[in-house]
Amino acid sequence: MNIDRCYCYDQTFAHLKAIADETGASSIEALQEHVTFGENCQLCHPYIRRTLTTGQTCFHEVLEAEAPDSP
Ligand code: FES
Repeated sequence: MNIDRCYCYDQTFAHLKAIADETGASSIEALQEHVTFGENCQLCHPYIRRTLTTGQTCFHEVLEAEAPDSP
């Protein structure tokens, strides 16, 4: 299974990353000022945080909301 988007708003992580690159948004909150995503179940948040820090846009493993390496 590939996890590559905010399913509630059908926004791919690749698209969100492109907007982050374009706008300089470096957090979910900053990115939400430019595009609507992540306001429903929020299960996409750990993935988008990873996208913003590593550039990865497709995931094959489940990321927990409170991963041990979360700030
Ligand atoms: S998958 Fe992003 S808010 Fe539900």
